[in-house]
Amino acid sequence: MTTTALASPGFGLGLRTDHYHAVLEQAPAVDWFEILSENYMVPGGKPLAMLDAIRADYPMVMHGVSMSIGSAEGPSDAYLSELKTLIRRVQPLWVSDHLCWTGVHGTNMHDLFPLPYTEEAVKVMVNNIRRVQDVLERPLVLENVSSYLSFSSDQMTEWEFVTAVAEESDSLILLDVNNVYVSSVNHGFDPFAYLAGIPVERVQQIHLAGHHHHGTHIIDTHDHPVADPVWELYAHALRRFGPVASMIERDDNIPPLAELVAELNIARRIAAGIFPATAGYVE
Ligand SMILES: [Fe+2]
Repeated sequence: MTTTALASPGFGLGLRTDHYHAVLEQAPAVDWFEILSENYMVPGGKPLAMLDAIRADYPMVMHGVSMSIGSAEGPSDAYLSELKTLIRRVQPLWVSDHLCWTGVHGTNMHDLFPLPYTEEAVKVMVNNIRRVQDVLERPLVLENVSSYLSFSSDQMTEWEFVTAVAEESDSLILLDVNNVYVSSVNHGFDPFAYLAGIPVERVQQIHLAGHHHHGTHIIDTHDHPVADPVWELYAHALRRFGPVASMIERDDNIPPLAELVAELNIARRIAAGIFPATAGYVE
């Protein structure tokens, strides 16, 4: 049986430590939170206590940054075991990471490095993803990363690579619309052609974020509000993929929670304009 995306839980935010107390005190109108898995893959302490308190009030999804699914050796058994422990605790709607590599030989370089878009890389990814899905006993959701270089060995476009990996491993896609835009400017491809190449039924979640435009290139900084061309691409994505679960990521220059909730309401308004009758998409 083919894996397809779960129904959308609505609009979410990335949970950040700066907002722990505001979330508990203000009970913001956010449908779900995305947590950074590695922040909670610890034996105890304050982060887990805050996680449990917020989880009691909100559904959550888990998002990892160091699975390194794109490295030849794949994620370690120890990493997957810790991740599974957290999954049991959080009971997330789904679990995601990135289509990239973050290190080799046990070293984590704490960055999301791009892959060559080759048949060989597809095979490596598919083997790694199947193993992870067997261990976690659930489909993996993988995100397209922003990039600043491409490989001369590329045999396909990024969207063909994302699609081949998802279909051959029977996994799902976290479509970061900001990353599509950032890479479209940096590499000179058409972001609308990218969206047109992604299989509709496999898109589980959408990420939105801000970036820094340097004129000749864009750096994916997550320290600004979402830019207008990204909102435009988001509207196009919703028309193609339907009312997909959407959220805003802010990782630096983090404003008060109310500002992010207001920014999330822009996403709600865009979606309500496209899907006026869809439950969960009305403010
Ligand atoms: Fe993202």
